Amino acid sequence: MKLDIVTIFPRMVEVPLAESLLGRAAARGVLDVRVRDLRDYTDDRHRVVDDVPYGGGPGMVLKAEPLFRAVDAIRAERGAPDAVVLTSPQGRPFAHREAERLSRLERIVILCGRYEGVDERVREHLATEELSIGDYVLTGGELAALVIADAVARLVPGVVGDDQSVVSESFVRGLLDFPHYTRPAEFRSLGVPPVLLSGHHAEIARWRKREAVRRTLERRPELLAAAVLDDEERRVLRELMETKEKGAIS
Ligand code: ADE
Repeated sequence: MKLDIVTIFPRMVEVPLAESLLGRAAARGVLDVRVRDLRDYTDDRHRVVDDVPYGGGPGMVLKAEPLFRAVDAIRAERGAPDAVVLTSPQGRPFAHREAERLSRLERIVILCGRYEGVDERVREHLATEELSIGDYVLTGGELAALVIADAVARLVPGVVGDDQSVVSESFVRGLLDFPHYTRPAEFRSLGVPPVLLSGHHAEIARWRKREAVRRTLERRPELLAAAVLDDEERRVLRELMETKEKGAIS
């Protein structure tokens, strides 16, 4: 996957990328990530990337021209992008489904917005989509771009060492993850569920399913409507819901 991130704060993006698993994947050649300084695509002496809003009002607006030029340069160097993502609190919510879709693309560009605004022509004629990482406002799109890049890239085969851990985790089937423990079996008098020490693989698998369903029901019941459950998970869900109802009645 070729990933280009366009920002006015390149170090803010480069440093976390280099320090993470993505940096190691890039070093192995599995990912090809480039962080681009938007100021390199200006044509004036002061490398100006923003300007006052037409119509007045506070704040500055990111200019369209440098962003268009950055994407032109990326297209010329790397080929036509499959997606040009603009990060913004007005975007569609970014969730696992989006990460999966993007992870199947070959070339992605992420344009980091600024909270004051981005010239609307970028939204309309350059970005192919606009994504938000949550209902809160960040000072800039850099953290959002890192969140998106991380969640997408780790689904690319070879980026995370153990592909199975990607398949079995939270959200893949719409359930939260089950609890995890590691050695020692007792720590400050705190134990580990005995089934995990039993060596009974089938029972361990059943316990994990049960805990995943239980947690989802307790913490994020709205996820269950869209979750893909197997027979065992459906049975556990029915049982937990019946217990809950009985608890509510008595
Ligand atoms: N830029 C500022 N806030 C943002 C958010 N919540 N998601 C994506 N980009 C942003």
